[in-house]
Amino acid sequence: MKMQYGSDFVFRQGWSVKKLPGLLAVVCLMTQGQTPVTLKSAYQGVFHIGAAINQAQFEERDQRATPIIISQFDTISPENVLKWGPVHPAKDTYNFGPADGYVAFGEKYGMMVMGHCLVWHSQTPDWVFQDDSGKPLVREALLERMHDHIKTVVGRYKGRIAGWDVVNEALNDDGTMRQSPWFKIIGDDYIAKAFEFAHEADPKARLYYNDYSLENPAKRKGAVELMKKLKGQGVPITGIGLQGHNKLEVPSAQAESDTIEAFSALGLEVNISELDVDVLPRTTNQNSADISATAAGGAASNPYVAGLPDEMQATLAKRYADLFAVFVKHRKDMGRVTFWGVTDANSWLNNFPTRGRTNYPLLFDRQGKPKPAFDAVVNAAHAK
Ligand code: XIL
Repeated sequence: MKMQYGSDFVFRQGWSVKKLPGLLAVVCLMTQGQTPVTLKSAYQGVFHIGAAINQAQFEERDQRATPIIISQFDTISPENVLKWGPVHPAKDTYNFGPADGYVAFGEKYGMMVMGHCLVWHSQTPDWVFQDDSGKPLVREALLERMHDHIKTVVGRYKGRIAGWDVVNEALNDDGTMRQSPWFKIIGDDYIAKAFEFAHEADPKARLYYNDYSLENPAKRKGAVELMKKLKGQGVPITGIGLQGHNKLEVPSAQAESDTIEAFSALGLEVNISELDVDVLPRTTNQNSADISATAAGGAASNPYVAGLPDEMQATLAKRYADLFAVFVKHRKDMGRVTFWGVTDANSWLNNFPTRGRTNYPLLFDRQGKPKPAFDAVVNAAHAK
């Protein structure tokens, strides 16, 4: 490895710091002689700061994102590998290879490792809800299947995965119970059962209910009632994950603050579990993060293919500053803030709700360089 000093570090012919963005992310942050400012150093003692990571990242094959994960975050979530479909694709088949790699990566770098998610209607194969002849399962059989799954998956990582999203997205936008196969077959105690099974499999694991759009009053009200009911029944629930799939304008900082207060008032730990900010025009008339809500595109829906204009960078940075001001204000009630992805290149919002767009929802750009929004988030910690 050849190294020259001067305006640039040259590692080998044609490869400069400019082409090593993961490293650049760190180098850029170094002001002369000072330790680089990182998200995790800025937020030390405030709350944990994390990212959802994919397989290439935890297998250390993504040379752009992996160094950022290691240097910037102190907690990780699995973007897909611990969902039912990937980890338990067929009745008698568990696929633990990727999930084992995810957990080992977190341990190698001393991170708090989260689990996502045990009971959800999406990314759950049809066989889960059917008997061997394809007929819908009855309540007792589905409960048994849920129990086996939770016991096997949570049990495997007992003492290693710090907390689980036990139930994901059980509510409709109006706050009523979603008519998922879980609800329709088991009834509304499926949520309590899932938490009991998870607690039985790892009594020390922190257990969360996770959902999107809880900042909307109707859905928040439904969730508050659900949480009260579960707590009243003695269900072992630690806290709530507000997914945090935000738009530039909604939810307002006030709604975010009210939502955190509504749940912390119930004695629940509040986490932001899947933070991002969608900067593209809406292609559906709803603000939902329901992954089945796909929408047709067209050029007007994808205006920043060539790059995000400076004024939009500034708008995004301001949005992140406002959100983190709220999170920091509520730091005593918050366990962590986790971004749903690392760089803009691999955010799910490039493909949701419309496939193949160029979105800019995170703090690191496609080259792995920190954006103005990164500085905004770091600065918000100093206001603590
Ligand atoms: C998303 C992943 O990021 C995508 O890779 C996958 O194709 C679909 O799911 N709410 C959740 C997450 O709880 O699990 C979803 O993750 C995003 C919305």
